[in-house]
Amino acid sequence: MRRVAILGAGQSRFGKRTDVRLDELAWESFREAMVESGVTQRDIDSFIVSTLGGWSAEVLPAVVVGEYCGLTPKPTMRVEAACASGSAAVYQAYTMIASGHAEVVSVIGVEKMSESSTPTTVELIGRAGNYFWEFENYGMTFPAYYALYASSYMNRYGATEEDLALVAVKNHYYGSFNPKAHFQRRISVDDVMKSIYVADPLKLLDCSPITDGSATVILASEESVKKFTNEPVWIRGIGAASGTANLSKRDNFLGLEAARKAADDAYKQANIERPISKLDLVEAHDCFTIAEVMAYEDLRLVERGEGYKLIKEEQTYKGGKIPVNLSGGLKAKGHPIGATGVSMIGELSKQLLGRIGGERQADIKHGWALAHNVGGTGHYAYVTILSLDKNGDVL
Ligand code: COA
Repeated sequence: MRRVAILGAGQSRFGKRTDVRLDELAWESFREAMVESGVTQRDIDSFIVSTLGGWSAEVLPAVVVGEYCGLTPKPTMRVEAACASGSAAVYQAYTMIASGHAEVVSVIGVEKMSESSTPTTVELIGRAGNYFWEFENYGMTFPAYYALYASSYMNRYGATEEDLALVAVKNHYYGSFNPKAHFQRRISVDDVMKSIYVADPLKLLDCSPITDGSATVILASEESVKKFTNEPVWIRGIGAASGTANLSKRDNFLGLEAARKAADDAYKQANIERPISKLDLVEAHDCFTIAEVMAYEDLRLVERGEGYKLIKEEQTYKGGKIPVNLSGGLKAKGHPIGATGVSMIGELSKQLLGRIGGERQADIKHGWALAHNVGGTGHYAYVTILSLDKNGDVL
């Protein structure tokens, strides 16, 4: 297998983007990634578009995006793994390059969730599970799935709604420094506690929003990297796993088994034994506040039942044991489903290279970062590990 690097990344402004079409939105991030990497359309062998779709009028998004971005007639496909679509697309591009099938591949994640007409966006997201059993019979909405996990976690470990709210407060704090974030306002625990219940115990400010946006990363083989940049970021591990469609078949509601398995696979590939002492930062899938707390544990940053203490002690802020979601996370940066995983990986590559700057820039001591991206309620899970170093351990 060949080594694979990230040459450059881009992201559109996230939010309600009624000012652009799907293809125009994709172009915003693709253009930035081309500028950062020095790659032009001519250099790209293949492109992959990650999008959940269903709300957009476009049924063939990859083709529409490809034409607008000047990539036709390169080979393309659309990749879908619910909210983990972006990481799944990066995984696909990685395997194409590692196997020698391609040299340079662009991954463009894009979603225009606000375009939905019928059924509504909230209903469409609610189908992200076992539709006929859970949604049609019991009317489970997507926040309700995570509410099951939140209730179960709080009951077992004694965490409170205020503890969960601290995740939203942190992520809105960092979102306030990110000009491309959906929400750029800070909030307090009191704001979260006073916000309306969406699915008890989760309130409006425990939830990620409905977001439009795009993100792009351009990947290349080790042989091709040197033509474009002296500052690549290497993909050192990608773990992937799936979970049952039907939540009633899960062993418990305290963590996401698929995420745990994906993390363990990725750590093995990257030869990481104590993640908290090796990773400089993490982008975690905080679609709901409880999801970030479970991520701390699924990723083995702490033991089971200890996750909520990590945020209570502010250890996931910059300067703490392991900064998480300095981008603002899904909660404040936004969650345009197909773009989310690509945006996490692009953000981390810029973080490792010191290109974020300001309040959001992490201290890079070891040169390692991790993206944790979950689709559905652990129906899909991808964990991607990046490093500044091609094959060594730490810098
Ligand atoms: N966080 C903070 N503010 C939010 C928000 C969120 N998640 N969602 C909406 N708002 C704000 C809006 O900006 C708006 O504010 P304004 O009145 O000042 O403009 C207000 O709340 C109402 O917005 P609206 O779009 O009508 O909200 P809604 O009630 O239709 O939807 C949720 C709210 C929580 C149901 C919706 O955001 C949701 O389903 N989120 C979860 C998304 C999800 O499941 N994604 C997949 C996860 S993997």
